[in-house]
Amino acid sequence: MPNQLLIPVSEIREMGRAALHLVAEYYDTLAGRAVLRPITSAELRSRLDEPAPSTGLPFAGLLDTVRDVVQEFSRHNGHPRFFGYVASPGMPAAAMGSMIAAAFNINVTSWRSGPAATEMELLCIRWLKEMLGYPADAAGLLVSGGSMANFAGIAAARSAKAPGNVVRDGIVGAPLRLYASEEAHFSIRKAAAMLGIGTANLRSVKTGPDLRMDLAHLDRLVREDRDAGHLPFCVVASAGTAGTGAVDPIGAIADLARTHNLWLHVDAAYGGFSALAPSARAFFARIAEADSVALDPHKWLYLPVGCGCVLYRHPAAARAAFSENAEYIRVVGLEHDEAFAFWDYGPELSRPFRALDLWLLLKSVGTRAIGEAIEDNIACAKYFAGLVSATDDFEMLAPVDLSIFCFRYRPRGFAGDLDALNERVLLEVQRGGSSYLSNTSVRGAFALRGCVLNYRTTRRDMEILLEDVRNAVRSVHQSEPRT
Ligand SMILES: Cc1ncc(COP(=O)(O)O)c(C=O)c1O
Repeated sequence: MPNQLLIPVSEIREMGRAALHLVAEYYDTLAGRAVLRPITSAELRSRLDEPAPSTGLPFAGLLDTVRDVVQEFSRHNGHPRFFGYVASPGMPAAAMGSMIAAAFNINVTSWRSGPAATEMELLCIRWLKEMLGYPADAAGLLVSGGSMANFAGIAAARSAKAPGNVVRDGIVGAPLRLYASEEAHFSIRKAAAMLGIGTANLRSVKTGPDLRMDLAHLDRLVREDRDAGHLPFCVVASAGTAGTGAVDPIGAIADLARTHNLWLHVDAAYGGFSALAPSARAFFARIAEADSVALDPHKWLYLPVGCGCVLYRHPAAARAAFSENAEYIRVVGLEHDEAFAFWDYGPELSRPFRALDLWLLLKSVGTRAIGEAIEDNIACAKYFAGLVSATDDFEMLAPVDLSIFCFRYRPRGFAGDLDALNERVLLEVQRGGSSYLSNTSVRGAFALRGCVLNYRTTRRDMEILLEDVRNAVRSVHQSEPRT
């Protein structure tokens, strides 16, 4: 019996040609596709469900299912008018990198597991610090995404600020208190839950009219908590909230953090790389004062999903939270640099070669072109805000700090339920397939929400978006019962 898992190189070439053909065709047709084709879960299952195959089939035939089912019935995050959530469009260079990384299958646990991959990741981390203006001697590593980066940063904060040895003994004594604005991402709540801090000890700081953290309220909460016997230990500033893109005042929060001996973690998962754009640079002027930072190359560096990053200003604090020394991983016979292990700085042991995509992207495109694309994304969002403000039946609901825009339909003289009306408009836009928006709530009002995070998006796309929303409004009105 031949070993069917051993594939001859000639066949591997054929597989590659077939897969690359599919990829190229996808990029070629992307902008002309519907952002999302409606389908039900039952319909999709009927196309996929079958017993686990006991014998194999030719690879090329399997790509038919990838083309006809996966490609056809996925939401195309790379479409120039996909404005939902905070989703990157992906990059061809990174798509190739992912294939190569899977083929080499380097497990980037430590230097000895992947010497070149480790050096490449450390180099990329150095580049990311330079882009942001973060200290050169800070530590950092790539993680699965922003949620994991927030978790890791807050874990380091907990070890640094909790009394005694929190890794060994858990939290003892006064309950720790964590602070973040009411607009902060839910991954902060999850981190509080997973780290034994408890979501009840996450204090929600009010925001001002610009949806940025209200510093007087932060100050008051910290003082109240201390007086009540709690231990305030960490404040999270959002550098670009997921809801509206508001950037908290990092410098002023750093001053308060210093006054109250708090660790400052900045969640820059969405906004961080806008530091490359001249119009947003000032938001990050004092980022170097943050004790830790969460970044997401799989957001505004346009990489495909699976690449986040956490930076720690004090490498020893990260090691205090994560370092492990089991006998089966003990490094023997290596010098200092070669004894380096990523598991000392984050929760993962086995880690994919994330840095290859990042390195290929940065080397093949360069930071200048990325900065220009980010600047253009911001300009597109502001252009759209201008289009909305020039109408008399739509209104903006939040300022545009970065590239997120929140607005709603508000016809003159309408006395009904605006939230319900806009929910119907949203569903109609999504059903239409030409543009895709998601939703949020701005001060309790239902908002149509978009985020420009794509180097393919142009001002013309922003005009088409408004036309699509107008068409959706028309359909909603047409479907209303006549009185
Ligand atoms: C501000 C912010 N923080 C954290 C996250 C979580 O990132 P991830 O989805 O990579 O875990 C997001 C995701 O959109 C975000 O916008």
